[in-house]
Amino acid sequence: VTPTTRRRPPKPYHSRSGIDLYHGDCRDVLPRLAQGSCAAVVTDPPYGLGIGGRTWDDDVAFYRETWRAVAQALAPGAPLLAFGGTRTWHRLAMAVELAGYTIGDSLAWLYGEGRPSSQNRLKPAWEPILLAWLGRRCNPLGIDGCRVPGEPRPLVVDRKSIARKGRTYNGGISSGRRVGLTEKGRWPANAVHDGSSAVLAAIGPGARFLYQAKARHPKQRGADNDHPTVKPLPLMDWLVRLACPEGGTVLDPFAGSGTNMVAAALAGRRAVGIEQSEEYCEIAARRIDALADVAA
Ligand SMILES: C[S@@+](CC[C@H](N)C(=O)[O-])C[C@H]1O[C@@H](n2cnc3c(N)ncnc32)[C@H](O)[C@@H]1O
Repeated sequence: VTPTTRRRPPKPYHSRSGIDLYHGDCRDVLPRLAQGSCAAVVTDPPYGLGIGGRTWDDDVAFYRETWRAVAQALAPGAPLLAFGGTRTWHRLAMAVELAGYTIGDSLAWLYGEGRPSSQNRLKPAWEPILLAWLGRRCNPLGIDGCRVPGEPRPLVVDRKSIARKGRTYNGGISSGRRVGLTEKGRWPANAVHDGSSAVLAAIGPGARFLYQAKARHPKQRGADNDHPTVKPLPLMDWLVRLACPEGGTVLDPFAGSGTNMVAAALAGRRAVGIEQSEEYCEIAARRIDALADVAA
């Protein structure tokens, strides 16, 4: 799209403290946002399951056009973190890849609370989170800001990169030479768990992953938030800090009740959210205002 054909920037539904929320279909709003203005996308799109009569839970995330529209608002190399359903995330990953992103990893969020949807199903115990980036090279991830706190860890010089940069790692790297201890915490893993007894029983009490529980408490959801798929604030905080540098702008084209925008604000990032339901926009706006009021 050339600047002459570009439509006027949309008017935010709500805007406060560096957090802009737009009401509408993201495929209409995204082409009107400033090109390359967002440093990362962290989002929880529809899983395409339509469970419980949720008409919004459709297949919008399975089209490359959707992620191309997202791409025009992103800086080159911008990381993308997108939740998916265990049954459908292959379609999400394919659409993201075909839109010009590189698939870099898949994170697992493990939890103990899920219930099977029928007698002929397994109990759901994890959700995938796709990690990709726009183009071929990924901008630096916030590894140090996302380390898992704990006892001092051995500091290891990685053999492969020592000649080039003398890069040091810690926690879980078995090859290489130990050069000391670090207090920075454990190197973050591509698995996060909720700390429930079910997960601890499965992976052992020494579970060395980050701990993030489900979003049950109003502190995490905000008051009067009846969105059916609210993600836990601490989990989104961790993902925002992983994907977006401080002061950068996080994009969420499927904002729901605004959890990612609230997480971005708490982590010192700016945010742009888009949500097609006015009811959910209202909830998100209330949460953003509550945060800004506390800060004022
Ligand atoms: C899984 S929910 C996100 C929930 C969010 N993580 C939270 O904590 O509240 C996905 C949201 O995307 C919205 N949505 C679906 N299709 C959309 C579209 N084309 N444009 C903008 N929003 C859309 C739905 O209304 C829904 O609120």
